[in-house]
Amino acid sequence: MASNLSFVLNKPNDVTFEERPVPKLQNPHDVLVAVNYTGICGSDVHYWVHGAIGHFVVKDPMVLGHESAGTVVEVGPEVKTLKKGDRIALEPGYPCRRCGSCLSGHYNLCPDMVFAATPPYHGTLTGFWVAPFDFCYKLPENVSLQEGALIEPLAVAVHIVKQARVQPGQSVVIMGAGPVGLLCGAVARAYGATKVVAVDIVQAKLDFALSYAATHTYMSQRVSPEENAAALIKSADLGAGADVVIDASGAEPSIQAALHVVRMGGTYVQGGMGKADITFPIMALCLKEVTARGSFRYGSGDYKLAIDLVAAGRVDVKKLVTGVVPFEDAEEAFKKVKEGQVIKILIAGPNEKVVQGMDTSVDEKKLQQAQAAGSTGCC
Ligand SMILES: NC(=O)c1ccc[n+]([C@@H]2O[C@H](COP(=O)([O-])OP(=O)(O)OC[C@H]3O[C@@H](n4cnc5c(N)ncnc54)[C@H](O)[C@@H]3O)[C@@H](O)[C@H]2O)c1
Ligand SMILES: [Zn+2]
Ligand SMILES: [Zn+2]
Repeated sequence: MASNLSFVLNKPNDVTFEERPVPKLQNPHDVLVAVNYTGICGSDVHYWVHGAIGHFVVKDPMVLGHESAGTVVEVGPEVKTLKKGDRIALEPGYPCRRCGSCLSGHYNLCPDMVFAATPPYHGTLTGFWVAPFDFCYKLPENVSLQEGALIEPLAVAVHIVKQARVQPGQSVVIMGAGPVGLLCGAVARAYGATKVVAVDIVQAKLDFALSYAATHTYMSQRVSPEENAAALIKSADLGAGADVVIDASGAEPSIQAALHVVRMGGTYVQGGMGKADITFPIMALCLKEVTARGSFRYGSGDYKLAIDLVAAGRVDVKKLVTGVVPFEDAEEAFKKVKEGQVIKILIAGPNEKVVQGMDTSVDEKKLQQAQAAGSTGCC
């Protein structure tokens, strides 16, 4: 019997597993998806620990998770592009499609967005999920479901790099070498950046970044932003400064240093979310005529490009997966992310079999066999 076991946050530091009713298709354009794998995001951990992010407050029990891939198990009568058994990456935010932002092509800015695991809406750490078919992206043959679960943070990075308008041959400095910063580095390389400098305060993160997409690293020091910027520029040989600086840390000192690292007429993108208000070097912004942009989630074409980059072998998301755990170990996995022990940990859906230590390609093969046999990969 397929389970709709869900991982529910009741209040800060209080999570339970709950067998919830399997959701029903509400709209003829909807599909029902069996969730196979879900990555844990910093925001999930933040809700778990603090019960709120800014004005989004968890008032009622909420299912966590929004970085998921799954298998289509039922399709509504108006669904044209997907069929039962298709493996998909789930885009987890559903805009109104009618407001000015939606109609101008910036649906990520929709004020009425329904986003998974952003209160009051439930998330995807559950057995089954209903989604409009056009927010489910079929994975190519050579992209696994585990890679599919990494498409969400990769789409965040794609959007940030698009906002930065990265050009071939440019230098890109990325503050923060967590999953988002690492993926920004990989996407910037795919866009043709020839120098990618990863900046962090943890040496192990820099070591990983260098083995991943960074060409240079810089360990941020406890000195003034100007001094950090000067040392960074010197160590990465950035001449008059970096063409593009991306913040993927949300940390005030790195945002301040960023404005001193960017070159005259360069571009700065705010991807990280930390304190809502900080001291920001407006003089550097003004005198250098820096183009500064925000970046929020992902919009038109970002999921598609993220999948294409993985399918084409231009971005390796598998390398970021530290481990895969069975659904019942979800709380343990959250603890590991909180303690910073992992880059990306995936939780297998409640209907997914995870054999500890098993090679992921074997796992995928089994699922494909199950699909070929007409099963969904779920019990
Ligand atoms: N814009 C969006 O739509 C969006 C989407 C997802 C995540 N985010 C934000 O992006 C950021 C990165 O996400 P993540 O999942 O990689 O988080 P993460 O916490 O894993 O990574 C942040 C990294 O920044 C490093 N850091 C902390 N202080 C620093 C400093 N002073 N200088 C340099 N590095 C420093 C940390 O050591 C860590 O490695 C977070 O702030 C997150 O909230 C934004
Ligand atoms: Zn996320
Ligand atoms: Zn809208």
